[in-house]
Amino acid sequence: MGDSELHCKFLKTCDLSAWLYLRRHGDVEVDEKEINLEESFSIHAGIAHTRWATHGEPAPRNSHPQTSGPGNEFLVVHNGIITNYEVLKETLVRHGFTFESETDTEIIPKLAKYVFDKAKEEADQTVTFSQVVLEVMRHLEGAYALIFKSRHYPNELIACKRGSPLLLGVKELTEDVTNGSAFHNDNFLSKKGHPKELFLSSDANAVVEHTKKVLVIEDGEVVHLKDGAVSILKFDKDKGKHGGALSRVASVQRALSILEMEVEQINKGKYEHYMQKEIHEQPESLTTTMRGRLIRRGSCKSKTVLLGGLKDHFKTIRRSRRILFIGCGTSYNAALAARPILEELSGLPVTMEIASDLLDRQGPIYREDTAVFVSQSGETADTLQALDYALENGALCVGITNTVGSAIARNTHCGVHINAGCEIGVASTKAYTSQIVAMAMLALAIGGDTISNQARRDAIIDGLYDLPNKVREVLKLDQEMKDLAQLLIAEQSLLVFGRGYNYATALEGALKVKEVALMHSEGILAGEMKHGPLALVDENLPIVVIATRDSCFSKQQSVIQQLHARKGRLIVMCSQGDAASVSLGGSCRVIEVPLVEDCLQPVVNIVPLQLLAYHLTVLRGFNVDQPRNLAKSVTTQ
Ligand code: G6P
Repeated sequence: MGDSELHCKFLKTCDLSAWLYLRRHGDVEVDEKEINLEESFSIHAGIAHTRWATHGEPAPRNSHPQTSGPGNEFLVVHNGIITNYEVLKETLVRHGFTFESETDTEIIPKLAKYVFDKAKEEADQTVTFSQVVLEVMRHLEGAYALIFKSRHYPNELIACKRGSPLLLGVKELTEDVTNGSAFHNDNFLSKKGHPKELFLSSDANAVVEHTKKVLVIEDGEVVHLKDGAVSILKFDKDKGKHGGALSRVASVQRALSILEMEVEQINKGKYEHYMQKEIHEQPESLTTTMRGRLIRRGSCKSKTVLLGGLKDHFKTIRRSRRILFIGCGTSYNAALAARPILEELSGLPVTMEIASDLLDRQGPIYREDTAVFVSQSGETADTLQALDYALENGALCVGITNTVGSAIARNTHCGVHINAGCEIGVASTKAYTSQIVAMAMLALAIGGDTISNQARRDAIIDGLYDLPNKVREVLKLDQEMKDLAQLLIAEQSLLVFGRGYNYATALEGALKVKEVALMHSEGILAGEMKHGPLALVDENLPIVVIATRDSCFSKQQSVIQQLHARKGRLIVMCSQGDAASVSLGGSCRVIEVPLVEDCLQPVVNIVPLQLLAYHLTVLRGFNVDQPRNLAKSVTTQ
């Protein structure tokens, strides 16, 4: 669960006499060597947790499990944030609990102990583990996925969630249950062949090497594992009129889903790092994004785009007052890259929102809006909360995600899966280019097959067909980017100037350098150069200028001229054959990339910058796939 600098394990030995948990600061691999699980212990349940610190610095006392106190009656691992923990902590302190960590999580096991003790005091000797956890959940505000163990309930394990992702992997099921039929706890428990192994995880990547059969756990649900059997419970509001809170639960039916991913996708293959692998597999990931969606029809070979997930909604989208794109990080940048073509082909106003900023402002969203949520993981907390907000305001909500079954895929009205394949490197690369392509196809589909835009549409569709080849070509710049990285290795800062279709490329290129190479980098809208950034220019600061051929080319030439005049240290990205035209007599390093249709150029142009960020990171000796302080999927706000 989670992702980060800390991880721990806690394990229960079969004779129930001893808990073992390890809490360490560092790599997961280091801890695995410290304990030989197979030989030292007979284990029926194991939990590994990596922590991305929200409350309390990364340190063993703040890592998980957090406990209920001496005796470790309840232990909890947590992914998320408890927003009302201070109030709960004050109450628990008044009841005699003492706290050892600075985490929000520590209140959870202590609250469980409080609930358990209270039930016993009230002579409820029958209180079950699930009931204790359901009662704890009633008091928690925020987002969480939790796993509980307790001395009072040996051979049992509980997981629950609200807001943060959680799924249950099920291995070796009986036939009729695996066939996608409804999963019911009683039915399941009564089966002779109980599943042999069960996996709870916040991410499908962690489960797929064991099983592809999963149950996606919904908000408010409690999963109870006992002796290899599973039941799922939920608070039943209608049962609430009579009886105590602990009795108001109902069992839940759920269908199994099959993960559409292969174990090979989570291996590095011939590459040293996931980021490197994911950069190099972009020709293939782009192909799968487009597969079955680009159609050449009839003898005149008229071209069109099919997006099955949206087919019933195009009328509503075309009648919208505006299209609003919402995302975070790289996903936001991808939407920004697609914005010009969406505006051009839809003829509608297209506005962009960073999810957290939309929420901070509570910006207006109307019933007549189409709100498009872009997210690789489909689980980013800010984007999810913005989705709730748009749903409340009655907008048509469209999801663009890479994760089938994710919260965004489930909770939007319709959407497009980008099918880029599993992305593991924290810095998003192949998902970015697939998102742009998915949104270019969205623009084509919204634009429809009108005569007036036929030539443009055909050119874009031809460009899409050829795009994987062009990306293959630009990947040949790998060594050149490594050489450039060598030159820049000791720099403090790197600016990236872009405009038009490639403003997003400037932002995304700078983001890659910043997040993995840990070098300050800023993407700058070249049109704003004179309004501030020009003050930074001197003969030392390296500046990448994106000046590939499109309608902004002459304006970028003028930017280059002005930078030359200030002795700027330029690296110019230009279209193949344009080196002389962009140098303009000054001295600069040139990166030549293949020319493609203007709206697809950001897909090609980002690749050298991804390679540059990758090589800079390796040369500077930083962790490529897990950059300091960052997480792949930020499921907390
Ligand atoms: C995190 C990741 C970024 C990602 C962003 C949005 O910050 O480190 O790589 O772009 O979240 O994630 P999403 O899954 O919503 O695209």
